[in-house]
Amino acid sequence: MYINSLKLVNYRNYDNLLVEFNKKVNLIIGMNGQGKTNIVEAIGFMSIGRSFRTNKDRELIKFSADNLYCACSFTRNNIDKKIEIVVTKDKKGIKVNGVSIKSIQELLGNLNVVIFSPEDLRLVKDGPKERRSFIDKEISQIMPRYYSLLTSYNKILQQRNRILKSYKIDKNLLDVYDETMSTYASEIYIIRNKFIDKLSKISSKIHKNLTMDKENLTIIYKNQVDLKPGQDASLVKSVLIEKLRESREGDIMTRSTKVGPHKDDMKILINDIDVRMYGSQGQQRTASISLKLSEIDLIKQELGDYPVLILDDVFSELDQSRQKMLVEKLENIQMFVTSADPLHKDILDIDDYRIFNIENGRLVGVENGGE
Ligand SMILES: Nc1ncnc2c1ncn2[C@@H]1O[C@H](COP(=O)(O)OP(=O)(O)O)[C@@H](O)[C@H]1O
Ligand SMILES: [Mg+2]
Repeated sequence: MYINSLKLVNYRNYDNLLVEFNKKVNLIIGMNGQGKTNIVEAIGFMSIGRSFRTNKDRELIKFSADNLYCACSFTRNNIDKKIEIVVTKDKKGIKVNGVSIKSIQELLGNLNVVIFSPEDLRLVKDGPKERRSFIDKEISQIMPRYYSLLTSYNKILQQRNRILKSYKIDKNLLDVYDETMSTYASEIYIIRNKFIDKLSKISSKIHKNLTMDKENLTIIYKNQVDLKPGQDASLVKSVLIEKLRESREGDIMTRSTKVGPHKDDMKILINDIDVRMYGSQGQQRTASISLKLSEIDLIKQELGDYPVLILDDVFSELDQSRQKMLVEKLENIQMFVTSADPLHKDILDIDDYRIFNIENGRLVGVENGGE
């Protein structure tokens, strides 16, 4: 899969930008604050309908404007496709191949993008919330249905918490909510379980590579229902309902729901030791890289096609051997690399690339590799 072109109108600091990309490597170069990340953010926005930097779409609209338009054309399995998004102060409209879509679920899975930014290097060190968000974003890309499932679950969870916060708690109503919540939750548990199992296998291989066979990475799904491999949804559901019953008095006291997939986490082990607690910073970073890179192979494995890869300001954070491994590993993938350092093309050691020089929301120069 590769992106052919991108158009931005009133997106962040861009008035009007049209870029044609190289099928392999695109280097987006410019000083800080010029608009490099804005470009890759827009690509991510068209992939999942949300920015990886903000939840507020209106922040993406240029300060002086009322609405924005962005579009990208890409090719997947030899078929040309187009995604367009319009954001106004209070609405967002998305079109895929010229047809308006009604839900984000219809957008997901069209353009698969993996974005790697410096924050991702903290994935292992961060709290459970960040890891859950990683899991959710990854699964949603591979399985758009999961996104709707999660949305439904979160809605019910919010409503349940609202009941817990009410003055007089209706316990019969809680029963009803426990039932519905557990139906969604059991599916989420089972999907996450399968996903983390695959992720563990792939990232273990990548991690071995990155550490010259020295370290064995294992990822374990932490959940409150003791999932076993191959367990069916109805059993998981009854376990959860039971747990919700047990924690009900506590929930009423603290006025929040303490059991469910919203409490999940991943345990990350290197040579059987919990790297989050006991690993060095270097190990934590490398494990984060392994996890993040697994996404690429996982998407390929599940969807039959590589995603495009964005490395936003992350390249210079890696030491030279890791930079090299990355580039070698990513031979068949379209890449977008942003950097303030124009020398990256030497490290990349490739001749098929295009450099975009960005200054203050404008494209001021394009150079093609090999010319
Ligand atoms: N909604 C907006 N309208 C206009 N400019 C914006 C908007 N949001 C961010 N910017 C500007 O975009 C620039 C940052 O762009 P960014 O792509 O993050 O820079 P970098 O090149 O460092 O990655 C800043 O100058 C910021 O003021
Ligand atoms: Mg940036």
